[in-house]
Amino acid sequence: MISKKMEEAINKQINEEMYSAYLYLSMAGYFAEQNLMGFHNWLYVQYHEELVHAEKFYKYLVERGGQVRLAAIKEPEHTWKGPRDAFEAVLKHERHITGRINELVDMAEAEKDRASFAMLQWFVNEQVEEEANAQDILAKLEMVGDHKQGLLMIDRALAERKKG
Ligand code: FEO
Repeated sequence: MISKKMEEAINKQINEEMYSAYLYLSMAGYFAEQNLMGFHNWLYVQYHEELVHAEKFYKYLVERGGQVRLAAIKEPEHTWKGPRDAFEAVLKHERHITGRINELVDMAEAEKDRASFAMLQWFVNEQVEEEANAQDILAKLEMVGDHKQGLLMIDRALAERKKG
């Protein structure tokens, strides 16, 4: 049986992942408004990934006999100053999520909750990828600066991302 403390923390993490999904869906809408449909595609795929993350925590909680207690999802931002500002926000948010995952790992360790510890390893690895992806796009945006052609090339590349 999972501890109450871990149960509460996983419920909170479901909310964090749902908020991540909401944030990226909001950002996808922002890019659609700018007619940058490659950026839109990338964020729309990312939105789905976040839903999968939330589901993984949900399924784990149910499997361990924990109580599911869903809270309200915070309203995300609706607009950004441009692609660079948006991807700075993505990277900042993913770093925040990494911090949350690390706290869960610390809690699992402190409680000697091996099952939660093992489950969380998937998220530890996933966060490395999440941060690297955001960092990579941000670096490219910094490289092209204000050059519209460069921005359109990045947009074309981001259009290739497919739902996992
Ligand atoms: Fe669910 Fe982007 O971390």
